[in-house]
Formats: sequence, structure tokens, C-alpha cells
Amino acid sequence: MADSDREQAKERVEVLTRDISHHNALYYREDQPEITDAEYDRLLRELRDLEVEYPELLRPDSPTQKVGASIAGTGFETAPHRSPMLSLDNAMDEGEMRAFNQRLGRLLDSENPGITFIGEPKLDGSGVELIYLDGQFAQGLTRGDGQSGEDVTVNLKPLPSIPSKLQISQEPFPPVVSVRGEVVLPLADFRRLNEARLVRGDEPFANPRNAAAGSLRQIHDIDYDRLRSLEFRAYALAEGKPEEVTTQWATLKLLDAWGFHVSPESRRCNNVDEAIAFHQSLQADRANLPVEIDGTVIKVDSISVQNELGHVARSPRWAIAYKFPPEQVRSVITGIEAQVGRTGALTPVAKLEPVQVGGVIVSNSSLHNQDEIDRKDVRTGDAVIIQRAGDVIPQIVRVLLEERDLKKNKKKSYEPYRLPENCPVCNTATIRLEAESVTRCPNLDCPAQLKNNLRHLASRGALDVDGLGEKLIDQLVDTGLVKRLSDLFALKQEQLEELERMGEKSAANLIESLQKSSQTTLTRLLIALGIRHVGATVADTLARHFRDLDPLIEATANQIEGIDGIGQTIAESIFRFLDSPENQAEIQRLRDLGVTWPALEADAGPQEGKLTGLSFVLTGTLSGPRDTFKQKIESAGGKVVGSVSKKTDYLVAGENAGSKLKKATELGVTILDEDGLENLL
Ligand code: IVH
Repeated sequence: MADSDREQAKERVEVLTRDISHHNALYYREDQPEITDAEYDRLLRELRDLEVEYPELLRPDSPTQKVGASIAGTGFETAPHRSPMLSLDNAMDEGEMRAFNQRLGRLLDSENPGITFIGEPKLDGSGVELIYLDGQFAQGLTRGDGQSGEDVTVNLKPLPSIPSKLQISQEPFPPVVSVRGEVVLPLADFRRLNEARLVRGDEPFANPRNAAAGSLRQIHDIDYDRLRSLEFRAYALAEGKPEEVTTQWATLKLLDAWGFHVSPESRRCNNVDEAIAFHQSLQADRANLPVEIDGTVIKVDSISVQNELGHVARSPRWAIAYKFPPEQVRSVITGIEAQVGRTGALTPVAKLEPVQVGGVIVSNSSLHNQDEIDRKDVRTGDAVIIQRAGDVIPQIVRVLLEERDLKKNKKKSYEPYRLPENCPVCNTATIRLEAESVTRCPNLDCPAQLKNNLRHLASRGALDVDGLGEKLIDQLVDTGLVKRLSDLFALKQEQLEELERMGEKSAANLIESLQKSSQTTLTRLLIALGIRHVGATVADTLARHFRDLDPLIEATANQIEGIDGIGQTIAESIFRFLDSPENQAEIQRLRDLGVTWPALEADAGPQEGKLTGLSFVLTGTLSGPRDTFKQKIESAGGKVVGSVSKKTDYLVAGENAGSKLKKATELGVTILDEDGLENLL
């Protein structure tokens, strides 16, 4: 084996490892993948093949050895799975499916093992584990890294397809039941959700899977309608299986009897040929199914045979995900445009020669950001392969570089594309923070951002301007009455009366609420300015630290970063915003137009209240989002911290509290349940 080959393989393994980890984070943590599943699978396979060829390059932390992404820092408590949640190996075509069957024969030491399979749709959603204790739904976890997941119990409870109690007729209940399955968002609900997001100016979800995962991980302002439209479909019982249940088929039946939804498309297949036929018929019927699927899962039916086969690091040997081929079509890029979103993000969009992909005409495709363009090396004039990911949003899979090379001789230029240095809408210099992949227009007055920023300013947590709704904001901007945030406070009643659907009375009311909102607090003002990453908590931290706006404006990025609870990305974002002369002028104008806030006293707590000076830790499953409890405590002056120490005054423990409860008990910290907290408040 030539040394140079090995060297090359080593480098490639490093690149692949880094890329796959990057895509894992986008997929599992941010629910916003940049590449298609097929591309991801290609990367993972290439890595696995290299590791097989050069076993010495296989690292224990290789992405081929684990499932998903590390789940630190997502805002949910994590909890271990009862047993690891495995992933599945893939078969990309019939040949690989047959190879799987032959491997089973070899492993079972039989020429013709006559294996019965269960074919199920491979649901394209978010895998979860549900724990039932004595028949009651107790805890729900995301798959996470396979070993432990995020505790999203509160977000799972509203799902109509998750029974709060198992429908078991004969007592006693198995003490512990672990049901596994997929949370999916039916396609009809997915379309509805995305339309609503577009109207609100939010980025649409790329596919139902990201929408489902994103819904499950809502922490703030939980949208319960969204949760109720999710569906849980069960496909495995990891614990609590009665002895008489000896097959996957019987397991599905049992799950159905207990009150779970089980995919009605599932079939028993007597051999590999029937499994392949099942796969093909499901593929033909794919467009008529209510949920998105990306293949079939073929499982060995007999549980004793499953146990005999066992599993490897990532996946069981007794099941395989037999994927549908993606639909791919060739097109040509006629141009690349930068679009300014409502948060100021510049998104490069490729204009394509219109083509049909999977029944829809595609003429645009988002290129996400500069890194993505550089990675794919996409240029105007290029022939490309496009594909609809999850059958919804078209993506450019790759450039047909061969064609570029051919045509180059015909003097086509093929210049590499760079996002503009100035905003295409307002011409302000764009910025790109080091830690981010996004290029932005920082101008608060950019018309593309203005409406969104006005909406944010008027919202309840910010200046809370009564009566300043979306329609009115649109009119104010479209008529040119408001060109930047501060113009709001210069509005005259006569100007408002001119607007559609505005009478004398409503115009007067709006002037009055603007007047009221202009007497505000430093925290609210900081939120209202719409600085990226500055929400209620950060604004409050800044207000307490600096006590007034001017010291904050004068602070360096390092000084801001030195504050407890503020990281580098946030600090940089605040610094850049306040350092901009345009934004400083705007703040001055707000002041001139009467927006005021009192400076905070030297030792001011967040807010004076019954809980001032007391420190709290929250743990376990509470009856609502943790944030709600946090806000209640903080608005009464208390402090909520992450871990229990001797200085902690109270631990608020919900259901299934674990290590924190133990520690608090040991340290003699007072433990409260929700009622106890209410009493204190
Ligand atoms: S069985 C050990 N059945 O696909 C068995 N998984 O790529 C592993 N999935 O992690 C799970 N539909 O989230 C199984 N009918 C099905 C499935 C299914 C979708 C997901 C699941 C799994 C992933 C593996």
C-alpha cells in the first residue's frame, strides 16, 4: 500500500469527519440542514469505506460510530435513554437490499434462512422515546446522540396521538414501558404551517421533518396548535414487552391496542422478494400518503432471530432502511440574486431555467449563504443537478463541472459569485460576524427590515404599543410616513387620519399609546432596538450592568463579553450595532422625540419584588414551559440559576426530578413544588 495513498486517505478522513459533524449539527441541533439526505449518506459512506480500507484511521469518536449530534446547550434538560436509540444502516437500491438478505443468511449460518420480514414506511420525522410508568405517560425524549436525548415531555403532552394512559385492559400494568416511534408533521399541516411562517416573515421549514423537530424543541412562546398537529407513530417497544409477544408484527398490534398510531401501510413479507415488492408499491403510492416518507424499513420479524443477530455500534443487524432514490433533474443557472430577508440576512438565490421536479416547476433555489456557494462552487451559467429535498424545497445537489470546462473554451466567464458588499436594497455596507455563516445588512432603516423591526418594537415584550398592528405598519411604511423606527414618535394625528380604515378616534388612540410607550425602561428599549441576539434576558443583564444606555454605547466588545451570561457572539453583535453611527443617530432621534427611560439605581436588582435576593433552580418536568416559571420568578425579583449550590435558596422540582433534587436534599436547600412556588409568589 503506497504511503501517499494512506496520506491522502488520512486527509480525506479528516475532511469528511469535519464536514459530517458540521452537517450533523445543522440537522440535529438547528433543524436547518444545508445538504440533502442523499448527500449526507454519500459522505458517511465514503468515510465508512475509507475506515474499512484503513482501519487504523478509525477514531472512536468518528461520526460513523455514533448517532446524531452532541446535544449540549440546547436549552432542554437531557436524560439518558433506557437503552441506546440506534440508527439504521441504509440500502440504496435493490442490489444492496439483496446483499442485506444474504448477510443475514451468512450470520444465521443458513443457505436459505427463510426469514420473514416486516416492511414499514420509513417515516421522515423526529425519533422519540416515550416512557410510561405504571401505565402513565411520564417522560418523552428526543433521540439526541442515541445515548441520551432532550427531555421534551412538555412539548409531547399536547399531541393527541400520545395517550396519557396506556389502554391496557388487564392489570397490573408493566411498571416501565418504553415506546419508540417517530413524530411526524402530516403534509397538509406542513404546508399550512409554512404559509403562516411566510406571512409572519419567518424562514419556512425546508421539509416536514425539520418542522416536526423544530416544533418539538420550542422553548419560548410555545405554539400549541403546532404541537397538536404533530402525529406520533409507534414502531418499537424497547421495554415492557409481554413474554407472549415474540414478533415485530405482534409488537405493532400490541402498540395499536395500547392506543398508539401504528403506520397502517406496514406489511408482513415472507421473503426478500416480497420485501422488495412492498418497497416498490409503497414508492408508487408515496405521493398519496398523508405523511412524508423517504423509504421503507425492512425488519426481521422474529424477535429471537433479532436477538441472535444483535447489533453493531450504530445500528441493528436485523433491520435496514431501504431508501427511495431522490428525484434529480438537470437545469442551468441563469443568475444569482441576493435577497434581503426581514432580519437583514442576505440570502443568495439561484435563478434556474424552469424544470419539473417531482411534479412541480422549479425556477429558484436557495443557496443559503456564502460558505454553501463556495463549497458547491456554484456560478452563473453552470449546469446543475437539482433535487427536491423531502419532496418540498428544491436544492442544488452539485455543479456539472465537466460542462463548465467544456464551455469555458467558448469564452464563457463563469465568475465565482460573492454576496454583495453593500445591501442591494439600501446600499449600506453588509457585515458578516466571525461566528456566523450569514451576511447581513446592519441598517436599522433598510426598508426590507423596517416592517419587521417595527413589529418587533411594538410587541409586548418591547415597547408594547397598543393598536400598532401588522396592517397599520405595512401602511405606514408603504406610504413613506415611517422610514425608520424613530419616525413612529414623530407621527401627527392628521397624518394618521389620512390612512385607510383610520378614523379620528383610532388615530388619536394610536398617538396616545405611542406617547404611553415612549415612557419606558432601559430593558424594554434594548429589546425594542432589535439588536440581533438581544432578547429579554440579555437586555435585562445589560441594563443591570450598565444602568443606562450611554455607558453601554461606550463599552468595547471585550467589556461586554466580560459580563456574566454574555458570550462572544452576542457581545460582538451588540457592539457592532451600537458602534454604528447610523444607529447612534437613530437612538439620539428617539430621545429627541421623547422616548425616555430612567437610569437604574446603583444596586438595582432586576426588579424589586417579593423574591428579591433569592436564588432558584428549576428541575424536572413542570406543568408548562420552564421559561414561564423563570419569568414569574424574575419579575418578582428572584434569580434563576442553572445548578444547585449552597447559595441556592429554593429548588422548584417538577415530576421526575433527578440529580438536582438529590443534591438539593443533601445540601438542605428548601424544595418546592409548583404550588409552593405559587404561594411564595
Ligand atoms: S426502527 C433499532 N422503524 O429512522 C431500530 N425507525 O435512520 C431503529 N425511522 O432512528 C428504529 N421510520 O428515527 C424504525 N418504521 C421505522 C422508522 C424508523 C423512521 C427512523 C428512526 C431511526 C431512523 C434511522
